[in-house]
Amino acid sequence: MTESASNPNRFYLTTPIYYVNARPHLGHAYSTIVCDAIARRKRALGIETWFLTGTDEHGQKIERSAKAAGCTPEEFATKIAGEFRGLWDRLGLTYDDFIRTTEPRHIRGVQHLFATLRDKGYIYKGSYTGQYCVFDEAYVDGPPETPCPDCGRPTETVSEENYFFKLSAFERKLLEFYEANPEFMGPESTRREVISFVRSGLKDLSVSRTSFSWGIPVPGDEKHVVYVWLDALANYITALGYGSDDPKDKARFEKFWPADIHLIGKEISRFHCVYWPAFLMAAGVALPRSVRANGWLLFDQGKMSKSRGNIVRAETVHEVLGADALRYFLLREIPFGQDGNFSFDALVQRYNGDLANGYGNLVSRVVNMVHRYFGGFAPEAGAETPAEATLRGNAEAAIAAFGPAFDELNFSDALKTLWAVVAETDGYLTANAPWKKPAERSDADHARLQARVLATAAEAIRVITALAYPILPDAAAKVWAQLGLGELAEAAKSGFLRDLAWGGLKAGTKFGEPAPLFPRAEKEAIERMQSLEDENNRTAVEAAGGGSGTENAKAPAPAKQEMAAVPVKAAVAMAPVAAATRAAPMAAKVVATAEAVGASAPSASVDLPVAPQTAVGASAQAAAETAAQGPQHITIDDFAKVELRVAQILVAERVPKADKLLRLEVDLGTEKRQILAGIAEHYEPEKLIGRRIVIVANLAPRKMRGLESNGMLLAASLEGGAPVLAGFLEDVPLGARLK
Ligand code: MSP
Repeated sequence: MTESASNPNRFYLTTPIYYVNARPHLGHAYSTIVCDAIARRKRALGIETWFLTGTDEHGQKIERSAKAAGCTPEEFATKIAGEFRGLWDRLGLTYDDFIRTTEPRHIRGVQHLFATLRDKGYIYKGSYTGQYCVFDEAYVDGPPETPCPDCGRPTETVSEENYFFKLSAFERKLLEFYEANPEFMGPESTRREVISFVRSGLKDLSVSRTSFSWGIPVPGDEKHVVYVWLDALANYITALGYGSDDPKDKARFEKFWPADIHLIGKEISRFHCVYWPAFLMAAGVALPRSVRANGWLLFDQGKMSKSRGNIVRAETVHEVLGADALRYFLLREIPFGQDGNFSFDALVQRYNGDLANGYGNLVSRVVNMVHRYFGGFAPEAGAETPAEATLRGNAEAAIAAFGPAFDELNFSDALKTLWAVVAETDGYLTANAPWKKPAERSDADHARLQARVLATAAEAIRVITALAYPILPDAAAKVWAQLGLGELAEAAKSGFLRDLAWGGLKAGTKFGEPAPLFPRAEKEAIERMQSLEDENNRTAVEAAGGGSGTENAKAPAPAKQEMAAVPVKAAVAMAPVAAATRAAPMAAKVVATAEAVGASAPSASVDLPVAPQTAVGASAQAAAETAAQGPQHITIDDFAKVELRVAQILVAERVPKADKLLRLEVDLGTEKRQILAGIAEHYEPEKLIGRRIVIVANLAPRKMRGLESNGMLLAASLEGGAPVLAGFLEDVPLGARLK
């Protein structure tokens, strides 16, 4: 292993690379926004910064999602990678490089890494014999005939020849490394869990697959593809140029590696804190300086994810309140490292309280008064009174406290400290009321007071704005211009934060025109965001066990030992919340297909035990605590209200002039019914005849296209809305109730 001393003048940080089988949502945006804020602050401190993000494009899930979408994995990956990149651009995220694992530079680097590990004797060929679930393409622990713990289907006994990485050889080395580098991983909960995982013993890890081909071929043995996690983790070095002979690549690699921060979601700590350092140790490459795990963004009490069907898109918040509002909310509301609840109400409450009525209103008052009373030129503050000394002292204390808190990723506290100065400046203005001249005060005294108060308040705003810039880059740039300080982006390039101190606003500076920053959000803002999401969700609801956005969330949970030995991207989530949410795979939506795939009727779905939405405006912490206690439950009586029954399709035909609708006649054993289902784009009517399906039998009848529908079909809805009808492997009598 090569050692590299920390260089305070350069900084390399990375997001996880996102799977391309799910469209970007707020959870992905969260990790990327956190990195963007860090990168902006580092650059504004004059530190040469490299911010990497990208997409994870190989593996069976992606192969399968592409197939479901009727395109090649390449086409599919290109489309979704484009969506990620396009979203980051719209949100103004300042990544320096975007790596796709299908790029030649990455493939070359991964093959170089694989060959290096093999040459050094850390990869050997072995074989795996065990149970395999073909549906989930996952190894299952247990004797022959063990059912798949994930989907319940029978498993097959398979024998696969694989390459194995000698992970077991790194158990002691990793523990020594953690001991010697207490800062390596955080938060503390992650550190504890990772250490206890390693202490429980490491088995060698299968690092190749032969049962599918959408991956990077193992050099010299091309019927194997490299295990997706070895492939994915390597992006952090291949993007810098690892494995390339080009001197420019080599120089970039030398300059920026090792990474200062790998920012990750907590569910992938094991991959980053155990496998990744072990691969690097084995390859003789320096280890990253730190891995920091963010908690989960929860929505409707569950981890926001495609497989749960509870996502909110960043575009929605961006469109209605702007990117700064989203950034501020995520960093202020959720203590980094903890889970946090997202709700539109809480978002709007924060937005109005802190941004519209707080910072935005303060700026507007001061800038307008400077225009009104001083013709738009910054006044001379004159001699300080105790009131100015207090405000200056508070602002200086904020300058001193903000940086360390932010650099520890304690964004919420950093912002709390800063917003205390917003409130103090507001209070100072109100107490001194420069807009009001008492009769006994002379004109000259009043002009002096106005100058002193407005110059001091404007200086406080300058300090607040400079510090808030990494979190509120758009608003800060506007305020910078209104204070007459020019282009903030330029100032950021020259490291303006490095020397931030009270007193930078010079008297006589010509202010820019006042312009609104954060218009107050009314109730309609919430309704608009909700309707944008409803619109989007109508065709994108995912059913339990469907193609997962995070393979980890969906993975079965065999004992830790088996996890280390199987080549499935499956992490046993280690935190209590993770365990609780993992234990609730049923908490996904069962979709009424007629509505879900866009028939004219409004969307409807039956939520099996999904917890009710958190109370309006509940704090992130309270929500996280609730979630940590486990998922909330409905009672068996609640569930019993939904009458799910087995039915057989007798007749299936297209509905004239309705592209999506099929008219079905189904047999429930004791009665026959007509049901309309919006599955015509995905199922040929003839092929449905005779199929046994599941219906919601006690749904109130409704009319569509003049025809009555008496019930709903149940289906998983894949990305893009493709339905997959629920059914049974065994024979089941018609009319049998599901309970
Ligand atoms: N491709 C792997 C990572 C490979 S890194 C070498 C992966 N991808 S993912 O798309 O499923 O998730 C990537 C990351 O997105 C998570 O680690 C996390 O940082 C972020 N999030 C996705 N959903 C999230 C929430 N609901 N909340 C917070 N972050 C979330 O795992």
